[in-house]
Amino acid sequence: MGSMVRIAIGFAVVCGLTLGVALTSAADSGFKYIGASKCKTCHKKELIGDQWSKWEKSGHAKAFKTLQGEKAIAIAKEKGISGPPSEAAECLKCHATAATVGADQVEKKPLSNSDGVQCETCHGPGSGYKKKKVMADHEKSLAAGLIVPDEKTCTQCHNEESPTFAGFDYAEASKKIDHSIPADVKGKYIEVEKARKAEGN
Ligand code: HEC
Ligand code: HEC
Ligand code: HEC
Ligand code: HEC
Repeated sequence: MGSMVRIAIGFAVVCGLTLGVALTSAADSGFKYIGASKCKTCHKKELIGDQWSKWEKSGHAKAFKTLQGEKAIAIAKEKGISGPPSEAAECLKCHATAATVGADQVEKKPLSNSDGVQCETCHGPGSGYKKKKVMADHEKSLAAGLIVPDEKTCTQCHNEESPTFAGFDYAEASKKIDHSIPADVKGKYIEVEKARKAEGN
């Protein structure tokens, strides 16, 4: 079993480069955005680690609202932006997923700016991986467009182009937004959920 695992990991590493190329084009490969509220149906559960509530409390969920605040209005004015920053493409591009997603990239409902920087900005459009059976299988999820974010995901926005940029420490920043699946559930959610239901909780 141990050596099987090692072989599998070795294989995954060898495939990593080609896979990386495939993943970066996920957005163009037919997968569509489904919106954060779809992720909520499964990811608000306590058992899985309630990623939803952690995100909802984070700056990312509030990033659009920030553009409606006084500080944002002052920044926009200084930059010579004529309208409100919450309507300016040059601010929205980092503050709202919806503003960066074309109508043809959406599965059903249009996304809303008010969701700020939502799940799919970091994890890739969800139409392919949203099914529980796919989600529970890491390789299948990756093949269906799931992105495991890394530092490069963050620095698309956390960079000098941000008018309020004051440096970015990936290790510290990812700790701040941590929304891990509990270790005793990770990779076996479906089994654990079944066992819980059988016990009557
Ligand atoms: C699409 C743009 C975008 C991407 C990608 C992005 N961020 Fe952010 N991030 C923002 C914006 C905008 C804010 C400011 C939110 C606010 O205060 O309104 C922010 C704020 C933060 C904050 C401070 C607020 C808080 O909730 O603690 C942390 C920490 C952070 N981001 C970490 C990360 C990490 C780690 C990544 C990569 C895994 C990442 N961000 C990727 C746009 C982005
Ligand atoms: C390149 C991506 C990017 C662009 C473009 C961008 N922002 Fe941000 N914004 C961020 C990130 C990331 C943060 C959080 C960390 C930081 O300040 O860099 C943030 C934070 C903010 C904050 C909160 C800062 C605080 O300390 O409370 C305000 C206000 C803000 N942005 C306004 C704007 C306005 C107005 C525009 C358009 C003129 C704009 N941003 C354009 C990425 C961006
Ligand atoms: C700003 C980027 C960002 C946003 C927004 C974001 N995530 Fe994540 N997510 C990450 C990063 C970074 C990781 C850790 C990746 C790793 O394993 O190294 C992660 C990991 C996860 C994991 C796996 C945790 C584990 O233990 O393996 C789940 C589940 C998840 N995110 C769900 C969500 C959901 C649901 C949302 C929206 C409600 C969301 N994420 C929003 C960046 C983000
Ligand atoms: C039908 C339920 C369901 C929906 C909808 C769903 N997920 Fe999941 N997700 C799961 C389950 C179950 C797991 C696997 C937990 C485990 O066993 O580790 C998972 C795992 C993940 C992981 C970790 C995957 C890995 O292999 O590293 C991420 C990231 C994630 N989900 C993000 C999202 C995002 C973003 C959305 C919305 C676009 C979403 N999920 C929608 C049920 C769902």
